[in-house]
Amino acid sequence: MNNLPLLFLGIFFTLAFSWTGLILTSQIQFGGLVQTTQQLDAEGNLMEDEDLFPQQIVGLAKHGKEVYIDLGCMYCHSQQVRRPGFGADTERGWGNRQSVPRDYILQDRVVLGTMRTGPDLKNIGDRIPSTDWHHQHFYNPQITSPGSVMPPYAFLYRVQPIGDEPHPNAVPIPQSSPYHPGPGLEIIPTRRAEALVAYMLSLRLNYSLPEAPIVEQ
Ligand code: HEC
Repeated sequence: MNNLPLLFLGIFFTLAFSWTGLILTSQIQFGGLVQTTQQLDAEGNLMEDEDLFPQQIVGLAKHGKEVYIDLGCMYCHSQQVRRPGFGADTERGWGNRQSVPRDYILQDRVVLGTMRTGPDLKNIGDRIPSTDWHHQHFYNPQITSPGSVMPPYAFLYRVQPIGDEPHPNAVPIPQSSPYHPGPGLEIIPTRRAEALVAYMLSLRLNYSLPEAPIVEQ
C-alpha cells in the first residue's frame, strides 16, 4: 500500500467538504438567527416595547408536541408553508406567508415533515381554532371530515356512563351521529388528547417577520 497518505488525505477532504457544505454553511446562514420584532425600524434595529417572535410554546401544548411525535402524525402532515410559486400552499389557505428558518429557532425538535397525505398544519391553530372540532376529529375523523383516510385516535378518549350531570369536558357528538357511543354514554378526552389539541391550537403562523411579512389576502 504505497499510497496510504493519499488515501487518508482523500478521505479527510471528502469528509471535510461535506461537513463544510452541510453543517458549517447552515450554521453560518442560520445559526445566528434570534427572536425579532415583526418589523424593524429605519436603521434595521428591533422596535422598542414590541413583542418578540417566534414565541416559545409552553405548558400543555409543549406536552402535546411529544404526543404528536409519539403518534407519528408527521408521517402524514408537514409543518412548513411553501412560498407562492413553489406549490399551492397559500391558495389552499394553509398560511398567509411562507415559513422561514427563523420560525423554528426555538424548537429543539423540529417536525417539518415531508409527507402531505393530510393538509399542512403550520397554521392549523388559526385555521381551525375550535377545541370541539379537534376532539371530534381525533375521536373519529369521519365526524368532521366524511371519507377521511386519517386514522381515528379513539384510544385517546374514555367512554363512560353519564353521571348526574354531563361531564363539562365531554366531547359534543350529535345523538344522531353513527359515531355517538350510545345512549347514556359520553366521551371524555384523556390528558394526552387535551395536550394534542392544545398543541394544534398553538400552531399559528399569524405573525410577520422582517424577512417574511404576512400577505393580506
Ligand atoms: C394516514 C395519514 C394520517 C395520519 C397518520 C394523521 N393524519 Fe391528520 N389528516 C390526514 C388527512 C388525509 C386529513 C384530511 C381529511 C381530514 O380532515 O380528516 C387530515 C386532517 C387533519 C387535520 C385537519 C386539517 C385541516 O386543514 O382540515 C388535523 C388537525 C390533523 N389531521 C391532525 C393530525 C394529528 C394530530 C395526527 C396524529 C395524531 C394526524 N393528523 C395523523 C391524514 C393523516
